[in-house]
Amino acid sequence: MNRIFSGVQPTGNLHLGNYLGAIRNWVKLQDDYECIFCVVDMHAITVWQDPQQLIANTREVAAAMIASGVDPKKNIIFNQSMVPGHAELAWIFNCVARLGWLNRMTQFKEKAGSNREKASVGLYSYPNLMAADIMLYKATHVPVGEDQKQHLELTRDVAQKFNNDFKNDFFPIVEPLIFGEATRVMSLRDGSKKMSKSDPSAASRIVMTDGPDEIAKKIRKAKTDAHPIPENKEGLDGRPDAANLMGIFAALSDRNVDSICGEYGGSQFSTFKQALSDLAVEKLGPIGSEMQRLMADSSSIDAVLHDGAEQARAISEPILNDIKDIVGFLRP
Ligand code: TRP
Repeated sequence: MNRIFSGVQPTGNLHLGNYLGAIRNWVKLQDDYECIFCVVDMHAITVWQDPQQLIANTREVAAAMIASGVDPKKNIIFNQSMVPGHAELAWIFNCVARLGWLNRMTQFKEKAGSNREKASVGLYSYPNLMAADIMLYKATHVPVGEDQKQHLELTRDVAQKFNNDFKNDFFPIVEPLIFGEATRVMSLRDGSKKMSKSDPSAASRIVMTDGPDEIAKKIRKAKTDAHPIPENKEGLDGRPDAANLMGIFAALSDRNVDSICGEYGGSQFSTFKQALSDLAVEKLGPIGSEMQRLMADSSSIDAVLHDGAEQARAISEPILNDIKDIVGFLRP
């Protein structure tokens, strides 16, 4: 059986990019795979998180998954810190991975910035924890965006080295699952920058809890250019703001950009934006209000997370026991 593991960080402000790039795809996977979806709170604390906010953000991610259609009865949804095996295997992987491998990780360089001495040790060993997340369940596939490909490569390297060091083929070599169009949603204020939870301008992103009025307003104000909609995709070259809006329309309607250009080619942006706004409200509105409803009753979300953690422990405990036997740890 193919098993999927995926993680999302609870860092707040879940937005359209998170929805189209990750959460929405998970909904499509649940019929074909055994899926384990994890809110990675342990990864989140590699940079400072306010404790109360971390709790709220963890629940928000779970609510977003459920509201988007990830069925907690068919899939496992839980938060990472509830299953201690993640930390235990991460330690073992800290001892398998080489410094040189982590030194090459571009995400660390970006997140640590110029003052690397001040970055947490956790931020540095972050990829080993991610490898542990995946290998703790012997997952075979991980849906990833561009930005996580290097981490998945590292997961493969760690698994391979473990297998070599201990002369076995214990870990599967995990495969990425890459999804098609519009996985890169850009800022509504600057089409050359990724839509981001930390952009100081709230108008740059549609957050998943936005109501119809906010969605409509942000799309109305979204940056465009002075030209009409092109007749085909090539006409979007060098027009990042236009390309972004067309890409969002395509993703929300499950069509390709060329077919959207075919329909709206020659129109003004005012016409197109109205259609995009209607579509976004239709698709995101119900998800946002369901999220609000779920978050107002945190006990129902917590029940899903507890139940998911129990199932995650049941799968991972025998695997972790085998790993401890292989490494040579006496067990209780
Ligand atoms: N690093 C991922 C991100 O920031 C989150 C993550 C943690 C993850 N563990 C994972 C993704 C395991 C896939 C599989 O997006």
